[in-house]
Amino acid sequence: MSGGLRRPTLFLRNVSKSYGQGEIAVHALREVDLLVERGDFVAVMGSSGSGKSTLMNVLGCLDVPTTGRYFLDGIDVADLDDYELAYVRNRKIGFVFQSFNLVPRTSALHNVELPLIYARVPRRERRVLAVEALDAVGLTHRMEHMPNELSGGQQQRVAIARAIVTAPALVLADEPTGNLDSASTVEIMHILSDLHAAGRTIVMITHEPEVAAQAKRVIHLVDGRVDSDRRTDSAPATTARLERDDSAEAVSA
Ligand SMILES: Nc1ncnc2c1ncn2[C@@H]1O[C@H](COP(=O)(O)OP(=O)(O)OP(=O)(O)O)[C@@H](O)[C@H]1O
Ligand SMILES: [Mg+2]
Repeated sequence: MSGGLRRPTLFLRNVSKSYGQGEIAVHALREVDLLVERGDFVAVMGSSGSGKSTLMNVLGCLDVPTTGRYFLDGIDVADLDDYELAYVRNRKIGFVFQSFNLVPRTSALHNVELPLIYARVPRRERRVLAVEALDAVGLTHRMEHMPNELSGGQQQRVAIARAIVTAPALVLADEPTGNLDSASTVEIMHILSDLHAAGRTIVMITHEPEVAAQAKRVIHLVDGRVDSDRRTDSAPATTARLERDDSAEAVSA
């Protein structure tokens, strides 16, 4: 299932996405070619309406391109039926949203277990994996808490634990720090950087240049096209700004 190491995780070839037809058609993506290698950490930027969410929806198999092809982890997504697409979304992609999207009145632990329930992982193994994922985001000491008993930053950490619990090929984050204060933003970016260091592939939408600077590659969309695509590897100084703040939370549990 996971395939060779050199196979790209994401490959878009000449992908366009239009809404509506003829005169009123909106061309949200135009002839996008994009290759993201396994283990890369990519930020997608661009003004409102430039196609960022459309790109995320295509990458996340929530929407299909009008033309062009999308290979996820070597699989041509167009060849999959609805059942297989649901499987791919569950096993290969972890989603993180701006608004956390945790299930209310359900403990952090149970929220993280949910994707494993859909994946029919047995109860005991489920528990072990969920606790491991919560440990990775420094939240095992809060795992019995309900979302409304957690801060925004903590809720987002639970959401990240939920996204990674199935060990997906890809973590897709749409404005993951959009609703967070600067301290929580630092925490979340630290966790994403750790995930990247551990080999995960991450694609993140953000409006914030300081957040984008944490990624290894920054892509700018303008009017549905890739306008610029540059690596940040050569500028390590930017990581200093979001250096681990050794607040008790981040390292406890
Ligand atoms: N379901 C839809 N039907 C029609 N047009 C759509 C639909 N979804 C998006 N669009 C249009 O496609 C274009 C790109 O939208 P998209 O949501 O991808 O932008 P975005 O970069 O995510 O913007 P924002 O920063 O505001 O979230 C916009 O012109 C938008 O109006
Ligand atoms: Mg959007």
